[in-house]
Amino acid sequence: MRTTPAILVSWLLMPLTLLPAAEGKSAQSAGSIRPGEVWLDTTGRPINAHGGGMLFHEGVYYWYGENKEGRTWLPESTRAWDGYRVDVTGVRCYSSKDLLNWKDEGLVLKAVPEDPNHDLHPAKVCERPKVVFNPRTKKFVMWMHIDSEDYKSARAGVATADRPTGPFLYLGSVRPEGQDSRDQTLFQDDDGKAYRIYSSENNDTTYISLLTDDYLRHSGTFARVFVKRRMEAQVVFKHAGRYWFLASGCTGWDPNPARSAVADSIWGPWTELGNPCRGPGAEGTFGGQSTFVFPVAGRTEAFIFMADRWNKTNLPDSRYLWLPLRFTEKGFEVTWQEAWRLDYFPPRTGQRVRGRAG
Ligand code: GAL
Repeated sequence: MRTTPAILVSWLLMPLTLLPAAEGKSAQSAGSIRPGEVWLDTTGRPINAHGGGMLFHEGVYYWYGENKEGRTWLPESTRAWDGYRVDVTGVRCYSSKDLLNWKDEGLVLKAVPEDPNHDLHPAKVCERPKVVFNPRTKKFVMWMHIDSEDYKSARAGVATADRPTGPFLYLGSVRPEGQDSRDQTLFQDDDGKAYRIYSSENNDTTYISLLTDDYLRHSGTFARVFVKRRMEAQVVFKHAGRYWFLASGCTGWDPNPARSAVADSIWGPWTELGNPCRGPGAEGTFGGQSTFVFPVAGRTEAFIFMADRWNKTNLPDSRYLWLPLRFTEKGFEVTWQEAWRLDYFPPRTGQRVRGRAG
């Protein structure tokens, strides 16, 4: 092919950011997801939703996570275990219909700087927020890990909203089942029951608590699972009628091998399946720590694994790892990809997809 000099000149003068090669620098470009790269929202700012979770509601995905901004510092009270922190600013939400382009919906739960005793005071800890929609009460319910600066108070906080984009009203915190509660997630089953899954007994044992019908309290029915296995960053999801589990070990912000498990009932018995990660960096969860797994609407066997690649000395620059999760004969796997597209997953059978014969 011949290139005319005029075209060549304009190509050479093109700003660097427009060159195709530069597109690859963003976590999402030209329809691909690039795990570990900076992921920009629709206004061009880096997405700020760490330790997050996903809610799919009326055709829209809502990504909620910790807003991490300001200086990262190491308090005396957590120095022994490298407990770097940023002060609490709140929980941010993004919305998207295509899982690639994310609109910033702002801080849907804000820190409360004026009251030093408030759970959401900047000097506290507010981590791993997860949101579910309660069809009975029509409320969006957020649970999160609330703590004191030294991580000794170990509580579970709850907030509700009438809309997915908030504002969320903070209702308070508890020590569920009379125990401490740190890393946590939510799981909503097909029958409308919701569960909170969290690290307890000083991170030794994972607890699964059934929430009340309004999802606002712990019902008192709970199980101790993975006893003394010391897990954090728990994730529960359902596929083919079985319950699947992911977690990390306990090494603070530093990565470690992921754990996985399966059960026929949420109450167990749970069978551990080992580290589901495959490919370069698999032994350290690709430098990340699990936070959520969710099914992609309209596609079969399509689950996305969400993790945080923490940058402990500059927490706001922590990155997101989104990878496809695939079920195998023995369990499931998460294989490293430099870049991947949602059409990695087959479309749901019976559905016509552009560019393919129906
Ligand atoms: C991690 C935990 C994070 C955060 C961090 C603090 O293990 O999963 O959510 O609490 O420790 O160092």
